[in-house]
Amino acid sequence: MTELVLSETRERVAVLTLNRPDKLNALNYALIDRLLALLDLIETDDGVRAVILTGAGERAFSAGADIREFSLSVAEGTDVALRDFVTRGQRLTARLEAFRKPVIAAVNGLAFGGGCEIAEAVPLAIASDRALFAKPEIKLAMPPTFGGTQRLPRLAGRKRALELLLTGDAFSPARALELGLVNQVVPHGQLMPAALDLARRIASHSQAVVTSILAAVARGLNQTIAEGLLVEAEQFARMAPTADLGEGLAAWLGRQRPTWDGSWTHITRPDETRRVARGRDSLTPQKSKPNG
Ligand code: COA
Repeated sequence: MTELVLSETRERVAVLTLNRPDKLNALNYALIDRLLALLDLIETDDGVRAVILTGAGERAFSAGADIREFSLSVAEGTDVALRDFVTRGQRLTARLEAFRKPVIAAVNGLAFGGGCEIAEAVPLAIASDRALFAKPEIKLAMPPTFGGTQRLPRLAGRKRALELLLTGDAFSPARALELGLVNQVVPHGQLMPAALDLARRIASHSQAVVTSILAAVARGLNQTIAEGLLVEAEQFARMAPTADLGEGLAAWLGRQRPTWDGSWTHITRPDETRRVARGRDSLTPQKSKPNG
C-alpha cells in the first residue's frame, strides 16, 4: 500500500511528505493519523533536530481536508463529524504548533483549507513562488475547522484574515509573506534547499534552547503579556542550570566556539559546567564565531 506520508531523514532533519498527489494531498483521516504517529516518533528521536513538511507532486502542498470523507461523517451526524473530523484536524494543527522541535512547512503548491491551516499552525514556513493559498471553506457553507478562524486573525490581523475567510479568494505567496503566514518566498527549485538551510541554521544551536524558545512562544503567544513573561522566565529558569547555558556563556567569554551538550542535564556546581559540556561529543560542529 502507498505510504500516505513519506518520511526520510537528511542530516538530522526529518522530511515528511504528504503523499496523495492525485488528490492534491487532501488530508484524509488515515493521512492525519499517520502524520500524528510520525510526529510522536520524531519527538523522541535524538537523531532528528528539525522537521520539514511538504507535499508530493507538482501541484499541491495540500488542498485541505478530504471533502469526500468528511462529508460522510457529517451525514452521520454532528457528534460523529466533530469527533472524527474536527477534533482530529485540530489535534494535528495543535500538535504542529506546540511541537518540541522546529517544524518548517515547505509550501510547494496549493495550500487550501486544511493545507493553509497547517501553514498557519507551524512555527516556520517557506513558500515556493508557485504556491497558492486559500480559505475556501465558506464556499462549502462551513467555517474552517482546523484552527483557521483562530490562528490567521492572530497572525495577520482581524480584518485581513476576515477578508480571506469571508471571500474564499485565493492569494499569492507574496500576499502570504505580507500577512506573516510565511517567512520567505523562494523560486520553486530553491524550496527544499531553503528549508534545509533554515533547519540546519536552527540545528546549529543547543537543542535544549531551541525547545525552550519554541515552548515559550507557543505557550506565551495567546496569554496576556504578564503571563507570557512568566512563561519566558520559567523557560530561562529551566535553561539556567543546564550545561549548555554554562557552555554558551563560558565560550563567549573565552572567545571560543561552544560545544553543545543538548540535554536538559542540570549542573549543580557552576565550575562543573564547562568540564561536563566539553566532555561530551559535539552535537554541533560550529562554523561561526560565538556571538552575543
Ligand atoms: N478533498 C478531497 N479530494 C480533493 C480535494 C479535497 N479537499 N481537493 C482536491 N481533491 C481531489 C479531486 O476530487 C480530484 O480527484 P478525482 O479526480 O479523483 O475527483 C483531484 O483531487 C484533483 O482535483 P481537481 O478538483 O480535479 O483539480 P482542479 O485543478 O480542477 O481544482 C482545486 C483544484 C483545489 C480548486 C479543487 O480541487 C478544490 O476546490 N478542492 C477543494 C479545496 C477545499 O475546499 N478545501 C477545503 C476543504 S474543507
